Amino acid sequence: MLILTATDIKKFYTMKDAIAADKQALKIYTQGNSDVPLRINFDMKKGQCLFMPAHIKGSDIVGIKIVSVFPDNPKLGKPSVPAQVLMLDPQTGEVCAMLDGTFVTALRTGAVQGAATDLLARRDACRAVLIGTGGQAISQLEAMLTVRSLTDVAIFDIDTQKAKQFTDEMKHRFAHFSTHLYFSQNLDEDISQADIITSVTTSKVVTFNGDKVRAGTHINGVGAYTPEMHEIPEKIVEKANIRVLDTKEGVFAEAGDIIEPIKQKLVSEDDFLELGDLVIDPTQCRQNDQQITIFKSVGTAVLDVYIGYDIYLKAKEKEIGIYL
Ligand SMILES: NC(=O)c1ccc[n+]([C@@H]2O[C@H](COP(=O)([O-])OP(=O)(O)OC[C@H]3O[C@@H](n4cnc5c(N)ncnc54)[C@H](O)[C@@H]3O)[C@@H](O)[C@H]2O)c1
Repeated sequence: MLILTATDIKKFYTMKDAIAADKQALKIYTQGNSDVPLRINFDMKKGQCLFMPAHIKGSDIVGIKIVSVFPDNPKLGKPSVPAQVLMLDPQTGEVCAMLDGTFVTALRTGAVQGAATDLLARRDACRAVLIGTGGQAISQLEAMLTVRSLTDVAIFDIDTQKAKQFTDEMKHRFAHFSTHLYFSQNLDEDISQADIITSVTTSKVVTFNGDKVRAGTHINGVGAYTPEMHEIPEKIVEKANIRVLDTKEGVFAEAGDIIEPIKQKLVSEDDFLELGDLVIDPTQCRQNDQQITIFKSVGTAVLDVYIGYDIYLKAKEKEIGIYL
């Protein structure tokens, strides 16, 4: 079994690789060529364990992400949300690889936003806003920087200190993009000038003012994953010309910012496409510079498993990682 840590993966697997893998994974999903059973949750005394398997049928790729939520772990010097991705060998059924699941989650989640932004944002998009500076934010920022030549990215969080510190760190980390990264002191103004907006928070209320969004903007909602959670203003969901989801099944069941406007009959389920639809038929992407487009993701095990196997194959080729 090949063990791949985050440090191993970072050595050879780029955000561009991840975006290409996510596009392929969601194309396969939308074509009906994958099996993704419902997540299995076990409540334990000290926390919860979640099992997320998937099978890519044609290539017989099978894997599972195991994520645990154990809030007291930090007291033991351990992460509160440990995660691993296990991959199976299609020839023997043996577990052939174990990857750092926290890193794979952040990578595939950033990359799916990057895929959507690549397919939907204006080609000349140059100003972006990132809302939320938690664990997922680095890969979200990297994905936007990867798919468009951005001149400016405004960074915002309700925790001002955190946002300032994050911005300073990202200036160094992503200096090679030559993009002006700055802490947003006036979110309304930054939203009104944005070509791309990405919200990746744990918020239960909308994270930006929909009235400030201008024509031609592309919006990504990445954070909300329960019916009570909300990031994208309903008005924008209603006003958008193109509305795209990672998976309809997941978003319609879980994401408050899409469930609510459907409940209010502002939009109907028929008004949404899957990202896989755009990969299969690119004529469904943006048609002009005035359209407002939105993308909402809640994640799916297909992404973890497809990208997990892609990383495993490339690692083997490059002889990276340790065999147990
Ligand atoms: N779509 C997916 O596939 C996917 C994958 C992983 C995580 N997520 C979700 O993304 C969200 C963010 O994850 P994380 O690990 O970065 O969380 P985190 O807890 O590390 O950070 C969340 C950040 O959001 C900020 N925030 C909360 N409300 C806000 C608001 N109204 N305006 C601005 N900032 C606000 C918080 O201050 C915090 O810094 C979570 O809800 C997580 O479950 C989605």
